[in-house]
Amino acid sequence: MHGKPFAESAEQNKGPILGVLRAWFTEPGSVLEVGSGTGQHAVHFAAGMPHLQWQPTEVQGRVEGVEAWRLEAGLANLRPARVLDAAGLWPAERYDYAFTANTAHIMHWPAVLATLAGVAGVLRDGGLFAMYGPFARAGRHTARSNLDFDRSLRRMDPGMGVRDMDDLEREALPCGLRLLEVVAMPADNFTLIWSRQHPDETRRAQRPQS
Ligand SMILES: C[S@@+](CC[C@H](N)C(=O)[O-])C[C@H]1O[C@@H](n2cnc3c(N)ncnc32)[C@H](O)[C@@H]1O
Repeated sequence: MHGKPFAESAEQNKGPILGVLRAWFTEPGSVLEVGSGTGQHAVHFAAGMPHLQWQPTEVQGRVEGVEAWRLEAGLANLRPARVLDAAGLWPAERYDYAFTANTAHIMHWPAVLATLAGVAGVLRDGGLFAMYGPFARAGRHTARSNLDFDRSLRRMDPGMGVRDMDDLEREALPCGLRLLEVVAMPADNFTLIWSRQHPDETRRAQRPQS
């Protein structure tokens, strides 16, 4: 690979996302990032939150780009990038936090579901998961730009598409992830903040009301 990969979108959104993460990921701990992309986010967030140990991950063949950013940055709290395909095997290690940006609309739906289950599996009870990107809400796109984006994604690959946060919420709950907050972000994006519940709490929440 020649040079570091670069995404203008990551340059644009890394500041606002860092603001949200700083507000939620307040205690020292470890973070698992899924689908780190170029590695720009990992470097920016590790530098901006020295109380966290940041673990970037990517699919096979994309880890090298993240490593190029990491090696240049030389940050003590940025761990070597690892291969993680959300639809495959997840690490056995436990994390205090998890983060992913702009992956749900790229992954096919089964991989999105695997991400929710995988994150729930690696987070300790009470751990937080931040998911950034464009999302629809209650079956409707929240902005014209997201509708256009959704259409262009589905033209490229019918398995991709802007996800509805209500579908995510419904699917995440049985996994043990409860949606705590929906944070509106610039450019018609959102950060969804989830909490890993203790399995007993999840069972209680699913019990039908008599
Ligand atoms: C639009 S990019 C976003 C990258 C970065 N998070 C950002 O916001 O700049 C989507 C990323 O999801 C990753 N991805 C796609 N399918 C994945 C999967 N099954 N497991 C993990 N990552 C996946 C891609 O390799 C790609 O880097």
